[in-house]
Amino acid sequence: MSLSYLAVAIQAALQAGAVARNMIGQVNIEHKGRIDLVTDADKAVEREIVRILRGAFPEHAILAEETGTSGDNAYCWYIDPIDGTTNYAHGFPVYAVSIGLAEADRLLVGVVYLPATDELFTAELGGGAMLNGVPLRVSDTETLLNSLLVTGFPYTAHDDSDNNLDHYGNFLTRCQGIRRTGSAAYDLVRTAQGCFDGYWESGLYAYDMAAGALIVQEAGGVISDYDGGPWSLHGGKIVAANPHIHQAMLDVLKLGKTGMHAG
Ligand code: IPD
Ligand code: CA
Ligand code: CA
Repeated sequence: MSLSYLAVAIQAALQAGAVARNMIGQVNIEHKGRIDLVTDADKAVEREIVRILRGAFPEHAILAEETGTSGDNAYCWYIDPIDGTTNYAHGFPVYAVSIGLAEADRLLVGVVYLPATDELFTAELGGGAMLNGVPLRVSDTETLLNSLLVTGFPYTAHDDSDNNLDHYGNFLTRCQGIRRTGSAAYDLVRTAQGCFDGYWESGLYAYDMAAGALIVQEAGGVISDYDGGPWSLHGGKIVAANPHIHQAMLDVLKLGKTGMHAG
């Protein structure tokens, strides 16, 4: 019997998540960039995930944050071992293990595990999204004004004026509130769960978004790029929201640097 992609991804996420949970508070921290960190837990967690996926599907390609690309196959696993490394390095327990599988860039499976709270978010293309085995649904908030949004800022924020502050300001005066959790995968699954009504961010990599994007879609959410065009795994940008407010978010994103006052 062939192994289910989802079952193996779940096993990898749970085992790797246990490694992360056990190491928090006792890691060595290195700098990949001025404010971009990596800990020895990121590396250990990634090793564990790759070991499990390689053992089950040796022919598949892998794109993993800390070790890069390996293999050449239409099936590719996208792995963010610890999404929320800055939180993790500070002992702030908001971080996620994120594992997605795509065939020729079409997402098939997404698993996001939150080790601190033992919450396992899963989705299969066409099969709905679940939290610990219970089906998930995005929120039904109808207006931006009543929406709780979430976003993030890129590691290039110190040097690049395209650092999301314009959009942040535009949303701040048009919605109920905005959160910055520090983990894109966390933001996506909490949007799928309906805690957040919408999420936007740019400067992301495929491994940040793959699993969470499928989970949002399978929970009934809409995902796109900032112009309302189709979301792409490698496009770097995402707007993920419940279907009622998605267009209103795109309208605010269009304002850019011109629209700092409530409309
Ligand atoms: C980061 C987190 C953060 C987002 C950054 C990502 P990392 O990933 O997802 O929320 O704002 O853009 O790079 O470095 O913690 O894996
Ligand atoms: Ca990440
Ligand atoms: Ca990471």
